Amino acid sequence: MSSEAQSRAVSPAGSSPAATPAGQFNVGLLGFGTVGSAFFELLRERSAEIERFNGVRPVISGVLTRSRGSFEEILADADLLVELIGGVEPAREYLLRAMRAGKHVVSANKQLLSQHGEELFEVAREHDVRLRFEAAVAGAVPVVRLLEESLSATPIERVHGIVNGTTNFILTEMAAGSTYAEALAEAQRRGFAEADPEDDVSGRDAAAKMAILARLAFGSPVHLDDVRYEGIEHLHGDDLEYARELGLGLKLVGTAERYKGGLSVHVHPTFLYSGHPLAAISGPFNAVTVESEIITELTLSGPGAGGRQTASAVLGDVVSVMTGGARPPAPPLVLDLIEDVESAYYLHLDVADRSGVLAAVTKVLGEHEVSIKSVVQRGIEEHARLVMVTHPVLESRLDAALERLGQFDFMRAPPRTIRVIEEEFT
Ligand SMILES: NC(=O)c1ccc[n+]([C@@H]2O[C@H](COP(=O)([O-])OP(=O)(O)OC[C@H]3O[C@@H](n4cnc5c(N)ncnc54)[C@H](OP(=O)(O)O)[C@@H]3O)[C@@H](O)[C@H]2O)c1
Repeated sequence: MSSEAQSRAVSPAGSSPAATPAGQFNVGLLGFGTVGSAFFELLRERSAEIERFNGVRPVISGVLTRSRGSFEEILADADLLVELIGGVEPAREYLLRAMRAGKHVVSANKQLLSQHGEELFEVAREHDVRLRFEAAVAGAVPVVRLLEESLSATPIERVHGIVNGTTNFILTEMAAGSTYAEALAEAQRRGFAEADPEDDVSGRDAAAKMAILARLAFGSPVHLDDVRYEGIEHLHGDDLEYARELGLGLKLVGTAERYKGGLSVHVHPTFLYSGHPLAAISGPFNAVTVESEIITELTLSGPGAGGRQTASAVLGDVVSVMTGGARPPAPPLVLDLIEDVESAYYLHLDVADRSGVLAAVTKVLGEHEVSIKSVVQRGIEEHARLVMVTHPVLESRLDAALERLGQFDFMRAPPRTIRVIEEEFT
């Protein structure tokens, strides 16, 4: 295809083909921070190579920040807008206006996609424009494209993700012996954590990404508010030590899975056995595992953040649009969201060190159908610690057992629980 024909082929509906010189593809850039400035540089470095294989050269036709540029002028000149502002407004308004004007859009904005995804997808479908958002989940790891394109014909049963590099770095440091406070300070010193790390350590950032992945994997709309999440702030160093004895490593894992005809999406600190593909992911890296009967298991991993790394995913989206890339997700098929699902659990009980306690604990667990896979018992002066891993049990059953246990006078502290993924794929 000639440059001119290619340019016409990717010309967004409703935009004036005359606005962009033949062989040139105008990209309006909204936001010029960590990712925006890295994207600007990367596009400049790579534009000749992109033109070589594509016949069309992407060019930045305008930049918007709070103090620079006019949205209207950038919109008028662009074939495509890249939104790297972040947050909900004005990013949402800008993307909607661009798509209604027939322009393609690329965004890295997980907050926006996880809260207004359906509205954006609908407008993209209505106006027959592309809406790409690879960098909104797991940075440079091409998991959005994997789900939207490569696995679009594969019935997916479960997606597990380490989708927050900050918490994975902190947990890696804690596994090596640091306290939570020391590990967080180190993450901040090395630029892996913001000065205000709340969104990361609370699990909310991972929840937003899992909402997006769940929509892509299962076709059902999932809002950030539908995702139950728990962070890493309250983890105890001794849980990591006991777990190591049981052959387990700790990660903040997001899960989206089919369950009894519905869908469950949640984020929790989770123990993994060493044979699970996510167990080996350390430091600020991200990884996503997709499970399906047809493909068994498939894992992608790589840098989940960083200006240049994220910019490479954004530029990949731009090239995808230039070459006619995937349409927005189809209208949703709504599945019920289910909260009470089965999981294996790690259970930590501080109890009085006296005879009969273990028997009483196992009796209560048995009455609630909580069966024990492994136990570590330690006596420390008049206290004892019972650390167990259960077989999979409904969360509501475990909660009922823990409530009953809490009524015994031998309990020295509230029980602590952490989910365990049993699969190893080895
Ligand atoms: N940083 C990463 O590693 C990473 C990784 C994956 C995804 N992302 C996503 O990428 C996006 C950008 O992140 P970032 O880290 O590059 O953010 P950032 O460094 O804070 O940059 C934000 C940019 O947006 C501009 N901006 C803010 N409000 C604006 C407004 N009302 N109108 C116009 N411009 C406005 C800012 O301009 P001023 O300079 O005028 O304030 C700044 O240039 C976010 O959605 C983020 O979630 C980031």
